Amino acid sequence: MRSKIVAGNWKMNKNMKETEALLTELSAKLPDTKAEVMVAPTFVNLAKAVRTLETSTIEVIAQNVHFAENGAYTGEISADMLLSVGVETVIIGHSERRAYFGETDEILAKKVVTALGKGMRVMFCFGEELEDRKSGNHFNLVESQLKNALFSLDASVWSKIILAYEPVWAIGTGETASPEQAQEMHAFIRKTITEAYDATIANNVSILYGGSVKPANAEEIFSKPDVDGGLIGGASLKADDFVAIISAI
Ligand code: G3P
Repeated sequence: MRSKIVAGNWKMNKNMKETEALLTELSAKLPDTKAEVMVAPTFVNLAKAVRTLETSTIEVIAQNVHFAENGAYTGEISADMLLSVGVETVIIGHSERRAYFGETDEILAKKVVTALGKGMRVMFCFGEELEDRKSGNHFNLVESQLKNALFSLDASVWSKIILAYEPVWAIGTGETASPEQAQEMHAFIRKTITEAYDATIANNVSILYGGSVKPANAEEIFSKPDVDGGLIGGASLKADDFVAIISAI
């Protein structure tokens, strides 16, 4: 049975003091839930976040990782460094990394292999641009993103993979995909994985939706059969909003 997951991607927000304050509030207000709850603060605050949440069920995850073991990569962070501060899950392939930092499917495939090789869980992000959807190319685009980054992996590692479908045109825009659009794409993703591997793997992988999820729309989106939760940006930066979204699953 696949997990329900609600994860907060904080992006480049919250200094250390603000991180501690938000996590303390979130931990105190966390509702009873069957879902796994995760938060992704910035690199500099990960160790503090892990300590702040050491008695909580909330998991601290990272927003990115480099593919190299270590070395001359100024400004980058390795999987070992994340593991050393207690972080065991990492977001890879977010559209902002692809757009602003030139992360290609090939680079992302290397990051995935490195993180899995270290025993980490990978939350892999993908999704189409508005012009892909307008031209009817969104299914082909999503399929190619999955194939190029994930479909060379051995079936045995798929238990360590979480998928996050994030239509780029819905990220940070307030333009949320409709629950029907989300369900249609999530069902397509599951079918694509079934064809590449088998139905067991496809049915066991959690597929999250991301893109302007808010307290007002979360319940309807999460009610769809192939939507297993959400990857939340802006709404994860306020405890009450994030708690409301967690309560919706
Ligand atoms: O990774 C989640 C993020 O891209 C969604 O952002 O602000 O639209 O919820 P937002």
